Formats: sequence, structure tokens, C-alpha cells
Amino acid sequence: MLDPTIAYTYFNYLYNSIDGYSVSHQARIGFNDKNEVLYGEVPPETWLKIMTRVDPKMDGVFLDIGSGTGRVVVLSHLLGDFKKSLGVELLQGLYQKSCEVKEQFEREVQPRISNHIGNRELSFLCQDIMQFDLTEVDFIFMNHPFKDRDLFVAMENKMLSELKSGTKIVTTIRALDNSAFKNLGSEKYEFSWGESTAYFYEV
Ligand SMILES: C[S@@+](CC[C@H](N)C(=O)[O-])C[C@H]1O[C@@H](n2cnc3c(N)ncnc32)[C@H](O)[C@@H]1O
Repeated sequence: MLDPTIAYTYFNYLYNSIDGYSVSHQARIGFNDKNEVLYGEVPPETWLKIMTRVDPKMDGVFLDIGSGTGRVVVLSHLLGDFKKSLGVELLQGLYQKSCEVKEQFEREVQPRISNHIGNRELSFLCQDIMQFDLTEVDFIFMNHPFKDRDLFVAMENKMLSELKSGTKIVTTIRALDNSAFKNLGSEKYEFSWGESTAYFYEV
């Protein structure tokens, strides 16, 4: 794991000039938004606290459902020991921004921390998460991508049918309904929209 102070320095270098709310607003123009696609961000310090509580398996696959500009995925790549840190984002404009950050990361940051990064993978896809195969994932973060209750329930059913036993899940704002998920408790953290609850589960 990269020292958090160093990880934050690189993270801030990559993201300080990106206004995710503005990118999200632009990305939604012309989008047929039945779900009223939401946007919000996780501060780096909050993400480190959440990751530390989850204690994800080493060399696993991390997935951010609705990765926005890629902040949590890049942070996980810097702070964690995942073999793959992956973001799936529906909106082209947000996905495009995450790809720009990835290019800058590979050009300017990765060469300086190649000992830490090794051949670990940072990856972004522009896709509806409902069409994505979850079977290889070990740790999922779901930062309130769906306002629509039916979509949320459909996602729970998809996770239950596709995820491996032992996969860890963290949701924000809304808890999972299905009691088939093992409940690992909840905690309050600071987010870009204020204090909010994160819920911890295992499949
Ligand atoms: C609250 S934002 C979270 C952004 C990022 N995960 C973070 O924590 O900084 C939720 C994101 O989910 C995306 N989203 C909504 N529905 C989606 C879907 N069906 N498939 C993939 N992404 C989706 C939205 O476009 C938005 O970027």
C-alpha cells in the first residue's frame, strides 16, 4: 500500500482542476434520464476509512458502480493492493474525463511509483452496469447511482445471482434490502454532500 500522504498528493495533482459536478451536468445534457442520474463525490480521507474497515482481499478486483470521473477507482489503485481497479460509468462525458485522468496518471504518475503499481490494472468502461458481468469482482462500491427503487432492487438481484461468496459490498445512503446479504454494520462518514451513512455487506 502506498503511503496515504503520497497517494493524496498524486490524487490531488490529478483531480484538483476537475469539477465533477460540472462534468456531470454537461454529461447529462441530451441524456434520456429516467433514473434522474445522481452525482456526488467521496473525499480521499473518507475512502481510506471505508477501505480500511472493509479490509478487502489482496490482489482482488475492485469495482465502483457508477464511477463518475474515476476518483474512487484512482484512489483505490493508489491506496489499495487490487490486481484490478475498475470503474463502470453510464454517462459518456464522465467516462471520458476518467479516461483523460488515466492517461495523465500513466504518463506522469505511474513512472514515479512503478515499484508500488507493478502490473496492477486501472480500467474504465462506459456501460450500463446492468449489462456488466460481475462474476470476477471481489469488492463493490455503490455510491448511490440509482434514485429509482426498482433499479436498486434489480441491482441487488443481479449481485446475488452473479457475485462470488465472500465478495464485499459498500453502499451509501441506501441500505441493501435483501437479507441474503450478510450485514456487516454501518457507519457515518463525510461526503461531498455532507455527513452520510455507508452500509457494509458480504455475499
Ligand atoms: C453519486 S455518483 C458517484 C460517483 C463516484 N462513484 C464517486 O463516488 O465519486 C453516481 C454515478 O453513477 C452513475 N450511474 C447511474 N446509473 C448508472 C448505470 N446504470 N450504470 C453505470 N453508472 C451509472 C452516474 O452517472 C453517476 O456518475
